[in-house]
Amino acid sequence: MFGKRTNDPSSVATKAPKPVAAPAAGASASSPAQSAPQPSPAAKAPPAAAKPEAEKQRSHSEDYYDVKTTVFNALIDTIDLTQLSKLDSVAAREEIRDIVSEIIQLKNVVMSIAEQEELLEDICNDVLGYGPLEPLLARDDIADIMVNGASTTFIEVNGKVQKTGVRFADNTQLMNICQRIVSQVGRRVDESSPICDARLPDGSRVNVIAPPLAIDGAALTIRKFKKDKLKLEQLVKFGSITPEAKTILEIIGRVRCNVLISGGTGSGKTTLLNCMTGSIDSDERIITCEDSAELQLQQPHVVRLETRPPNLEGEGEITMRALVKNCLRMRPERIIVGEVRGPEAFDLLQAMNTGHDGSMGTLHSNSPREAISRLESMIMMGGFALPVKTIREMIVGSVDIIVQASRLRDGTRKITHITEVMGMEGEVVTLQNLILYEITGEDANGKLIGRHRSTGISRPALWERASYYGETDRLAEALSASEVYDEHGNPIGEANG
Ligand SMILES: Nc1ncnc2c1ncn2[C@@H]1O[C@H](COP(=O)(O)OP(=O)(O)OP(=O)(O)O)[C@@H](O)[C@H]1O
Ligand SMILES: [Mg+2]
Repeated sequence: MFGKRTNDPSSVATKAPKPVAAPAAGASASSPAQSAPQPSPAAKAPPAAAKPEAEKQRSHSEDYYDVKTTVFNALIDTIDLTQLSKLDSVAAREEIRDIVSEIIQLKNVVMSIAEQEELLEDICNDVLGYGPLEPLLARDDIADIMVNGASTTFIEVNGKVQKTGVRFADNTQLMNICQRIVSQVGRRVDESSPICDARLPDGSRVNVIAPPLAIDGAALTIRKFKKDKLKLEQLVKFGSITPEAKTILEIIGRVRCNVLISGGTGSGKTTLLNCMTGSIDSDERIITCEDSAELQLQQPHVVRLETRPPNLEGEGEITMRALVKNCLRMRPERIIVGEVRGPEAFDLLQAMNTGHDGSMGTLHSNSPREAISRLESMIMMGGFALPVKTIREMIVGSVDIIVQASRLRDGTRKITHITEVMGMEGEVVTLQNLILYEITGEDANGKLIGRHRSTGISRPALWERASYYGETDRLAEALSASEVYDEHGNPIGEANG
């Protein structure tokens, strides 16, 4: 192990890293050689038996990084990165492995086969991939990766955020990796344009905010792309909804209700939207508008559109509003807006109102009631000089259903409301909950206990639509099966939200 490497510092010390000429795109963008402090093995000669625990967790000691920098620098001195970038990734990995093994021998670095393997893997990741992020990207159980500067990385697994041992050599290496990611989609991130959205080749959504805006080094956030997007059946299996509520959602999707999915950050809005599009008939023409394409519709007739940020000169931006407006000229049957966050709210509502029923979108808010006021303020801030009452009437005339998604404090994600938008009472929009999730307690492990239940509505406002599509029996059955009774055998009701 690294702790046992030779005590003779000269055997691991190498010449100072020579400045590396800019290699072929991507080849050394993450090279710590350009920035990593030169190791001083003499000063840091580790004790003979160093931190076996830390090794086990793959959170390496300083010495590991020293050895890695040393070997890395020697590698950069030896290979021609331009040539390397011409090889396919398997051949390039082979090439690097051969050379690194040789360097390890030459430099007399003593390490076990397993440690050597790990070092080889890390170096290959640095040269060819996303460096320390690679092992996290390879995992399928991670929902989010959150890098807060070079030395701190958090991940979200099973709804819980946890710190990892992953770290970058320094902020420059982190910035280089960010740059590599965003350059793949033709964008740039640096001091002059420090905010950037991008996507990994596998579809994962990426946001970078760089210094000076991010004070402690670049903040990189990745929403991992799930190869197998969750389906409604899985949401049932996870307890996010009941089988009956699933049926209700399917009916809502099928009978062309206009739906807004509301929820907080990472609550599962996009996942739910994706699930709900599953009930759209395969002969409908669907147009999706997203900031970063995440939806995976299964229907054959789908046009996917994506917004574009402005270029470095501040030109060429295509907003969500422009996309939604353009959609209307594309003979859509359904318009799906990944996330409504600005004045496009107005255009979406108009589209919903004018024959494109069955359109759907998500928005950030914490309750169906709040979703209405969020919509309202998006329209007002979009500069539409309309009286509040008119805006509310427009919302009432357009949106049929609000589905609320929430991530609860125990990390589980639930559909907490299926709510109908009914009408206006004076100036106030009236809502009617069909299904609610209520928390009834907490078990010894901090897991919340709760239940989904209907509010006792047996003839929801969507009844007429359901009848047109021959879905009333299924709807009535699902609603009545969702009823929950109190200890006296009376159904627990609560109709208005
Ligand atoms: N019901 C669920 N049960 C378990 N995991 C879920 C559930 N819904 C979504 N997830 C997972 O949670 C993560 C976040 O989901 P999603 O992208 O849908 O959230 P979001 O609300 O759209 O987030 P954002 O606000 O960032 O756009 C994903 O990894 C997804 O697979
Ligand atoms: Mg989303």
